[in-house]
Amino acid sequence: MSTPTGPVADGTPSADGSAAALAWWRTAAVYQVVPRSFADGDGDGVGDLPGLRSRLQHLADLGVDAVWVNPWYPSPGVDNGYDVTDYRDVDAALGGLAQAEEFLREAHALGLKVLLDIVPNHTSHTHAWFRAALAGDERARARYLFRPGRGEDGSLPPNDWESCFGGPSWTRTTGADGRPGEWYLHSFAPEQPDLDWRNPEVRAEFVDVLRFWFDRGVDGFRVDVAHGLLKQEGLPDALGRDRRTEEHPGWDQDEVHEVYREWRAVADAYDPPRVFVAEAWVARRERLPLYLRPDELHMAFEFDPLHVAWREGPWRRVIERGLAVAQLTGAPSAWALTNHDVVRQVTRYARSQPPEHGSNVSERARWGSEVPDLALGRARARAAALLTTALPGLVYVYAGEELGLEEVEDIPADLRTDPIHTRSGGRDPGRDGSRVPLPWSGQRPPFGFSPPGAPAPRLPQPPHWAALTAAAQARDEGSTLSLYRRALRLRRELLTGPEPLRWCEAPEGVLAFRRGRVLVQVNFGPRAVALPSGARLLVRSGPAPEGVLPVDTAAWLDVGAP
Ligand code: GLC
Repeated sequence: MSTPTGPVADGTPSADGSAAALAWWRTAAVYQVVPRSFADGDGDGVGDLPGLRSRLQHLADLGVDAVWVNPWYPSPGVDNGYDVTDYRDVDAALGGLAQAEEFLREAHALGLKVLLDIVPNHTSHTHAWFRAALAGDERARARYLFRPGRGEDGSLPPNDWESCFGGPSWTRTTGADGRPGEWYLHSFAPEQPDLDWRNPEVRAEFVDVLRFWFDRGVDGFRVDVAHGLLKQEGLPDALGRDRRTEEHPGWDQDEVHEVYREWRAVADAYDPPRVFVAEAWVARRERLPLYLRPDELHMAFEFDPLHVAWREGPWRRVIERGLAVAQLTGAPSAWALTNHDVVRQVTRYARSQPPEHGSNVSERARWGSEVPDLALGRARARAAALLTTALPGLVYVYAGEELGLEEVEDIPADLRTDPIHTRSGGRDPGRDGSRVPLPWSGQRPPFGFSPPGAPAPRLPQPPHWAALTAAAQARDEGSTLSLYRRALRLRRELLTGPEPLRWCEAPEGVLAFRRGRVLVQVNFGPRAVALPSGARLLVRSGPAPEGVLPVDTAAWLDVGAP
């Protein structure tokens, strides 16, 4: 266990830009795991920590520096664990706290840092605080956002906010006398009541939770809904404004930064200092740097790559916007091609591309209307992997993307549990298709996900994943897994220094940039091009004759010292 040691440096690159001065988190490759979908150790058909421990070598072989574990706390699982019952424990179904401590020890022994998810915007409705609140305990009620309804009998919600999962952001409670009572705010599902971050008890509680995990050696946190903790005083109507694209009184209030300044001081007091990565969806991009001030959060995900079309111009703009934030703040860019909330990239790239950006909703709305060309999607996803792993900053790899898994689109409706699906009345398929258990080995489901004899996992794996298991791909030099391993190894060797990105001239449809001695070219079409002669090919995302960069393919070339 580490002990607090007082303020320490944050790993800002030194004036001479030397690589040695870069803290680990500035250049890391981080592997994201949904524990229930990763590997089942105890044979109940649900992924767990014994399963994750048994597969840690896969991460070490892949060549990542850290693992980010999605919420592992006790939870009724209404929202994939983002509905927390107890922040100081681990769900018994995952193996409990003792398994988590073993996992931390083993990950660290393999040289892997560990990031957890912290979910501060809301608790589960099963959290002791919320139960006490519903039972009428005034002090507990003050930790949430209970308000009287509008209208004569209070039967209208206190304001007009929509929940992110559809429907109103408010649910009415029933008083002790059995009569309808006040309403409580939930930005997500009704089972996820929002906390009142103006209440000092809430702030103190989360500082204590951070310390609880930091004391156990956790290296940092991904901050869930980092922009949402504070709501505008008085909870005014949103008047139809869209949370995602317009300023909304429920998101991104100035007071939230006081919270992160307090958290940063806590993280900096550890040796080594602990880190935070923000999930901050801000409607006005110019507000993102506020979260990345030197005394706040260390980095924030770049979300544009999750939705940007497979086209050269839009990708170039996305990269430029990300690097501009890094330049302004000194915080590294955190790149990701996918995560547990969006359609997997193989499927996004397998259909006709929007002009600039798609969105989760528009991607899922296209299901059924156009047959996906998965081979095409996979080729583009492999090229995209060489693109993002070469960028300055961090790269996040979502479990299964290194296997080239696609979104599973044909999950029967009655097996889907994502609240986005249920609350949309089944119109939106929701996010279950990106959380299907991983295929590890063997010829038929569950492909080594569970030990023999276990019940089938809830979400069915497609039979053709037999060709995509980790074991099959480890034996195949041309597999997506082999590509990720090669790319991450080369990245560690050649691309984790402070070398800036410089754009290069390239044929039409080809994105080209240089970092240090590496020239990166990505061919978005319309035709195959010749690779520059005289440069050594380091890695290419797909097969091709020597000297050629086909359409939907990327390559790294060694062009010598700059
Ligand atoms: C974040 C998570 C998402 C979750 C939501 C509510 O956006 O990434 O999975 O549903 O927060 O906690």
